[in-house]
Amino acid sequence: MVKIREGWGSRIGVILAVAGSAVGLGNFLRFPSQVAQNGGGAFMIPYFIALILIGIPLMWVEWTAGRYGGSFGHSSAPGIFHSLRPKNRAMKYMGVTGVLGPFVIYMYYVYIESWCLAFAYYSLIGKLQFSSAEGYLSFLQWYQGVGDGSSLSGSTPGVIFFLITFLANMAVTYFGIKGGIEKICHIALPTLFIFAVVLAIRVLTMDAPPGAPPDQNAIGGLGFLWNPDLSALKSPKVWLAAAGQIFFTLSVGMGVILTYSSYVKRNDDVALSGLTAASTNEFAEVILGGSIVIPAAFAFFGAANIGAIANSGTFNLGFVTMPQIFAGIPGGAIYGFLWFFMLFLAGITSSISLAQPAVAFMEDEFNYTREKSVKIFAAITFILCQPALWFLNKGVLDDLDFWGATVIIVLGATFEVILVAWVFGIDKMWAELHRGGLIKVPRVFKFVIKYISPTLLILMLVWWLIDQWWEVITMKSIPAENVPYVLGTRLVLLTLLVVLMALVYRAWRRREKESQDIEVTQ
Ligand code: ALA
Repeated sequence: MVKIREGWGSRIGVILAVAGSAVGLGNFLRFPSQVAQNGGGAFMIPYFIALILIGIPLMWVEWTAGRYGGSFGHSSAPGIFHSLRPKNRAMKYMGVTGVLGPFVIYMYYVYIESWCLAFAYYSLIGKLQFSSAEGYLSFLQWYQGVGDGSSLSGSTPGVIFFLITFLANMAVTYFGIKGGIEKICHIALPTLFIFAVVLAIRVLTMDAPPGAPPDQNAIGGLGFLWNPDLSALKSPKVWLAAAGQIFFTLSVGMGVILTYSSYVKRNDDVALSGLTAASTNEFAEVILGGSIVIPAAFAFFGAANIGAIANSGTFNLGFVTMPQIFAGIPGGAIYGFLWFFMLFLAGITSSISLAQPAVAFMEDEFNYTREKSVKIFAAITFILCQPALWFLNKGVLDDLDFWGATVIIVLGATFEVILVAWVFGIDKMWAELHRGGLIKVPRVFKFVIKYISPTLLILMLVWWLIDQWWEVITMKSIPAENVPYVLGTRLVLLTLLVVLMALVYRAWRRREKESQDIEVTQ
């Protein structure tokens, strides 16, 4: 039986889906936290440089390679890389990063997404009302089940909201590209933008608490973000943080854009679509994301305290500070709901994209039906999401984030840009990018894609190897009681890597055998 390949219903559908994948928790939680930890305006110059020299070029590389691979029936990185040069037997193995990366991020992302749903509910029923920051922090810890710091995590409500979120994700994936992903993004993305605009307007018109210094207001918070501090350009840490944020927020290097764009028809535009999706994400992150948490926290707690709050815990600005601020304004419960439900919508349109590469891998390379692939994916990820839930305070989530969202995606991006620009060839890539293109990309990007992006990516990897490798391997900075959990996490990740490599080997062996059998019968 010949399987009919899935496809997007419309051009706006694929743009919304890719933008939905990009606009996520990274825009509204990770971005303000990174800005606060890296000195405000100091962060923004490296951020925009990384956007132009790595983020946008990689966006075009992925859209182009994905659509090309899709025309050969491949929707996940192993097959897409293979189709770039079928004679090279190694390419498909490099593509394993594009299935493993999103899979690993999925293992904790859905859990954090479920907190947003829970906190939206608690805001609405008026349960998020405490007299001090400690009250909000205790509530978050109660919810996570990490109260006294010694017990294992996972509270009863935490488990329930996780189940709802997990099932919602699987339901969307089950209905496929057009019937599930495209439909939900059509509704969720405009809704979350409306919520974000309402929140940004509310925050920017907010009064500072009584007794605050005159320049401590929301507009001053914009100054914290937008006053550049050139001295930070000397710090490699700030550059790496900025580049890391660009990867995470645009969803590049993860394999998900490769997968989404593989469902675009060969002669349909990718040049403008890629740029539109990236711009939508940047608008959501810098304009909307930058106008909510930072100005609000600045007005209420002052510049000096923003960094301290962000450093005290990745989620504290979003889950402790924001509800505390909303509780102090009229209609706070509604604003709290808008904030957390917006995060949930941003999260789910990203997590469904993280699931798709593995599902597509099974569909295309093993010829499974979508239903069967989704059921297998659901069974495996349901088990593999549990460590983040139960061992939250044992460093599991941080380790998954480190490998999934830092190491694997940068490695994946490096493979991908080298394979596309050098093995496939920059001239062919450039012609493919413009096939059906609705814009002409400035030629300078041809140079950037061939030389600058790969060089910067390799420099990033080398810097990590020199600076962090030994510490990571020896787990020096991990508290002794967490070492068994972190070690367990790494063993799981290693097993996943080996299994995926073996599956790629098997899939291609099977295909070779089938084509030999066809030749013999002819
Ligand atoms: N790009 C997604 C985010 O920002 C993963 O959350």
